[in-house]
Amino acid sequence: MKNKIIAGNWKMNNTREQTEQLITALIPLVQDTNNTVIICVPFTDLCKAVKLTKGTNIHVGAQNCHWKESGAFTGEIAPSMLTEIGVEYVVIGHSERRTYFGETDATVLARTKAALNAGLKPIVCIGETLDERNGGRMEEVLRRQVLEGFKDISVQELEHIIVAYEPVWAIGTGVTATDEQADEAIRFVRGVFAEKYGKAAADALYIQYGGSMNDKNAEGLLNMPQIDGGLIGGASLVAEKFAAVVKAHI
Ligand code: PGA
Repeated sequence: MKNKIIAGNWKMNNTREQTEQLITALIPLVQDTNNTVIICVPFTDLCKAVKLTKGTNIHVGAQNCHWKESGAFTGEIAPSMLTEIGVEYVVIGHSERRTYFGETDATVLARTKAALNAGLKPIVCIGETLDERNGGRMEEVLRRQVLEGFKDISVQELEHIIVAYEPVWAIGTGVTATDEQADEAIRFVRGVFAEKYGKAAADALYIQYGGSMNDKNAEGLLNMPQIDGGLIGGASLVAEKFAAVVKAHI
């Protein structure tokens, strides 16, 4: 079985001072894990997070990056601006970006490509809404998100990507997918990757579950055969809760 990759998505939370407190508390709590630990923090906290985690097993990620290296793109950040300060990962295509900021499969693909070219490891998010699931369209939506969002991604590039399956109805709602629902959806997603890239590449691909995952439900989810880790929002803001998720699967 693979080790797990547990990533915290702080979203738009934490000042520099809170960042210092949270990371300082987290470091000793997760230092003995075999799992990969990532925290994806707001842009203004990145430098501090990189500095504080130096020499520890905690990796730092951003929550977005643009597809161009520079230019007239007010409010955006280029991938090389992230790598130059020591950032290793970047969340791309989170459902909040898709819902509130017009992110599409095409922009997800462009951002992922640019991130890879700069040497970042993208955490690419996919997932269906409640209407799509209830309307029997879950598989169609997930298939489209994979086929369109990974259109020009080569099998070599796929090795550097983490996928996060996050059903939109479970994000920030306290309603978690059951262990079986999450596992089944990820099995389906992995099957679509297998069609495109072959079984070996699809089996090697890390696919996380995200959506109200916390210290209480992590063990069940992380012990499912298809679930390779978690993308954790709310529970990543409390050191003890996030550490419990990191250690829920040995
Ligand atoms: P949540 O967020 O854990 O607060 O539901 C997960 C996410 O949006 O990545």
